[in-house]
Amino acid sequence: IETSCDETSLAKIKAEWPAYFKNPKTLTLPIFKIIKNLILSQIKIHSHFGGVVPNLAKREHQKNLPILFKKLSGENIDSNSQKIKKFLKDIDLITITVGPGLEPALWSGIEFTKKIIKKYKELNIKSPKIIGANHLLGHLYSFMLDSKITSKKIKNQTQIFPSIALIVSGGHTILINFKSLFEYKKLGETRDDACGEAFDKVARMLDLKYPGGPQIEKLAKAGNPKEIIFPRPMIYDKSYDFSFSGLKTSVFYYLRDSKKVKDEKFKADVAASFQEAAFDVLIYKSTRAIKEFKAKSVMISGGVAANKTLRKKFYKLSKLQKILFFVPPFIYNTDNAVIIGISAYFNFLNKKFKKLKAIGDLNI
Ligand code: KG4
Ligand code: ZN
Repeated sequence: IETSCDETSLAKIKAEWPAYFKNPKTLTLPIFKIIKNLILSQIKIHSHFGGVVPNLAKREHQKNLPILFKKLSGENIDSNSQKIKKFLKDIDLITITVGPGLEPALWSGIEFTKKIIKKYKELNIKSPKIIGANHLLGHLYSFMLDSKITSKKIKNQTQIFPSIALIVSGGHTILINFKSLFEYKKLGETRDDACGEAFDKVARMLDLKYPGGPQIEKLAKAGNPKEIIFPRPMIYDKSYDFSFSGLKTSVFYYLRDSKKVKDEKFKADVAASFQEAAFDVLIYKSTRAIKEFKAKSVMISGGVAANKTLRKKFYKLSKLQKILFFVPPFIYNTDNAVIIGISAYFNFLNKKFKKLKAIGDLNI
């Protein structure tokens, strides 16, 4: 179950990893089958406000959760039918995002999860394991949905790890040294705005709708990425941290002070040049980390990783460095319950549980 921001999502997945249960030190990989993935996006509702309104998000989640539960199970949450019993009995593990995210939104998912737990008691069915999930780990483990893994072309963990993983979303920009399937260490993160947040803010300056990322990407296609040289904040800084606030401000001043006609071509050049500056920093720092940690692969996840230009740049980088590149199919870049379920499966095996309590600023 995922309700951390403006997507209500419920999914049912099945994990297959027989080798692990014979020997937890196995170097094979599990395969995840997606039985159902349901997402109700609130984008239309929030776009009027230019961003997500927490209490509105909470109200929408509360409305959407029972609807999605019915779609997933075939029954109303208040029903006592054989059908709902069968559905509940079939589940081994329930997981709900407890952070990071908007606390009112997170709580609506947690309250609904508690309702499901109550249902198990009411119907006298043995409750499955229930664990809280870290949303960021959902993005991190979304590489498991890359077609090279789901098609079993890549079968072994040693082909992937150590890996450098970049989470780029609306709330986070984090570079991670993904040492093994169960071991990861944060190398750096943004000190101010997240990359997606900068996209959203620049989009607003260009009179584009929320969320701005996809709009900037579309507009940038008609623009010249080399037309305006925006700053690349912290690109040569020794740390693996990022900063996108200064870049966003440069775009603001450029738009304010430029004497050029502010037509579509002008806007497209701004969008393309901004995108280029932001991605240059992501590529440069990831490359440095790949070299330092002798990574065998690089992976990107989170909403901004849905950007085709960014995907192409990372693909090129992987070819240059002769390493593998992992990215989930587009729909698993933005928020959904499938990736939350996948991360919870690993956390469950790794005994890294979170309580059912919302933690808005939970980190990795
Ligand atoms: O992962 P996500 O759905 O939610 C968070 O966990 O934050 O990411 C949403 C963010 C938004 O800032 C959105 O503008 C950005 O991802 N985004 C994109 C694209 N699609 C979504 N940014 C750039 N290009 C895109 N195609
Ligand atoms: Zn997310």
